[in-house]
Amino acid sequence: MTNGNSANPVDPPENGYDPTPLVLEPNSAISQGLPDDTPLAIDVRSLGKRYGEIKAVKNISFQVAQGEVFAFLGPNGAGKTTTIRMLCTLSRPTAGSASVDGFDVLRQPTAVRRRIGLVFQDPTLDQQLTAEENLRFHAVLYRVPRNQVDERIDRVLRLVDLQDRRKDLVSTFSGGMARRLEIARGMLHTPAVLFLDEPTIGLDPQTRALMWEDVLRLRNEEGVTIFLTTHYMDEAEYADRIAIIDHGSIVALDTPDNLKKMVGSDTVELSTSDNNLAGSNLKQLGFTVRVAEENVIVFAENGEQQVTAIIQGAAVPIKNVRVHRPNLDDVFLHFTGREIREGHSERAFPAQFRNFGRRR
Ligand SMILES: Nc1ncnc2c1ncn2[C@@H]1O[C@H](COP(=O)(O)OP(=O)(O)O)[C@@H](O)[C@H]1O
Ligand SMILES: [Mg+2]
Repeated sequence: MTNGNSANPVDPPENGYDPTPLVLEPNSAISQGLPDDTPLAIDVRSLGKRYGEIKAVKNISFQVAQGEVFAFLGPNGAGKTTTIRMLCTLSRPTAGSASVDGFDVLRQPTAVRRRIGLVFQDPTLDQQLTAEENLRFHAVLYRVPRNQVDERIDRVLRLVDLQDRRKDLVSTFSGGMARRLEIARGMLHTPAVLFLDEPTIGLDPQTRALMWEDVLRLRNEEGVTIFLTTHYMDEAEYADRIAIIDHGSIVALDTPDNLKKMVGSDTVELSTSDNNLAGSNLKQLGFTVRVAEENVIVFAENGEQQVTAIIQGAAVPIKNVRVHRPNLDDVFLHFTGREIREGHSERAFPAQFRNFGRRR
């Protein structure tokens, strides 16, 4: 917990706490993907949270390595905030166990709180204070040693590129700037793990891209482990690994690339002057091909790199070419049978965003 936000009180202890033993579901889409001796920042075992009849989180298990950027991806109501609240000791699990930076969230909540930074889904800055005053207030709350406060404030403001605005009132900030200041605040006491609940929600695509630059810079320069949630399919790509959560359960967990491979290979669709001939020419060259009425579909690893070879191999005049690479929308659809609607209506990232570090 990184602030004294009274809107997020600690739940009262609940009766019926049930520390169920670890049962990993036999689901091949859930790859833990970490070698046995990996130092863990987060270790979650059969964690569950029930609100009366509602099972908000159902028997989830996963591990996050130190220094990882780990994304929880799922639609509204999937259980993302509930999971973060349990990991940050703001809400008591009703089943299972979890540890953060080696400390148990139920038995050692104070130690956990000292080691984490948390940025809530809803803003919690004081609008009537300047950026720097907000940070100073937080430094006192978190007992950042006095002789380190100035240095730390400089550092975190630089990390989110707000050093020029330190003396400005937060009320003059854009939504994106305020969000970045909150992230800076969450980093002030040098946490081992930073939790970000939907850090990019409601921001325009370009600001969301800047936010991701910040997140990756924090990990690279401060070595902090980052656990973030989002319901935007396209932006989870930038995480090292993704857990897809739906109706309180993890339905898939792996690197973005591996998740996409589970859904299928790239496809290169050609429309040609003679699709049958193109198809048989390509088959002879060893390509996996499906000939349809209006096009020829070639299944290929790294479709973009093979386009030239495929066009030449077809050996007939080409009218149109389209390369489709499975994206996380396809992955979500594959594992849940549904689309995440919000992720579709607003694409977060133009392709050129892969080119980081252009801000300065
Ligand atoms: N305090 C609460 N009391 C009752 N139900 C809750 C409470 N908090 C969350 N829920 C329910 O738990 C489910 C998961 O919610 P949440 O974790 O907020 O999802 P997400 O953050 O993924 O949108 C939802 O069905 C939600 O209505
Ligand atoms: Mg939420």
